[in-house]
Amino acid sequence: MSLSRRTFLTGFSGLTLYSIASSARARVTPWQSLGPFYPHKLPVDSDADLTFVDGKNGQATGQFTRLSGRVTDQSGAPIKNARVEIWQCDAFGAYHHPRDGGGVDPFFQGYGQTTTDNNGNYRFKTIKPVAYPGRAPHIHMKVIDGSRELVTQIYIRGEPANKRDFLLNAIRNEQSRQSLEVAFEASRDPAESELVARFDPVLG
Ligand SMILES: [Fe+2]
Repeated sequence: MSLSRRTFLTGFSGLTLYSIASSARARVTPWQSLGPFYPHKLPVDSDADLTFVDGKNGQATGQFTRLSGRVTDQSGAPIKNARVEIWQCDAFGAYHHPRDGGGVDPFFQGYGQTTTDNNGNYRFKTIKPVAYPGRAPHIHMKVIDGSRELVTQIYIRGEPANKRDFLLNAIRNEQSRQSLEVAFEASRDPAESELVARFDPVLG
């Protein structure tokens, strides 16, 4: 093989590998505002089940939802032991935060946290988010992996209010915006009455 041909082939395969690698890189999940209702002080019960508060005799109002997903980096590698936090208003549109009257539903936890497993998976039980004045329904999420952090918001795919939400629409790129809109749908298991929603955060 001539030197020029070999150089050409080497260059070509390098380029091909580069384009495969770059096209396989996942889009980093877009950031969204932390908002004014991130807890000042974590509630005593801040586990991954937001539909039940320890020591209270009742369950949250709302459509119960299993929110789960996998935290990865842009190459698709799972991020284990990342801390995942969510917070959202209760079914009456009130945050469990002093700035929002402390919430209406005493049985809703308002905030929850968990840690990803060895495969980057996390899982919460919560309620389907509802709208409050000025905002489409959303769940706030914060992911912390050492010095890396992501703060974002999860929206309901197909929800008409998304079109008017100023924070969601501040994301100009359509694919990035759509990556925050997830389906809240009935479980395939007919015995399970909870909705299921899946959100896979990608850290940059
Ligand atoms: Fe919010």
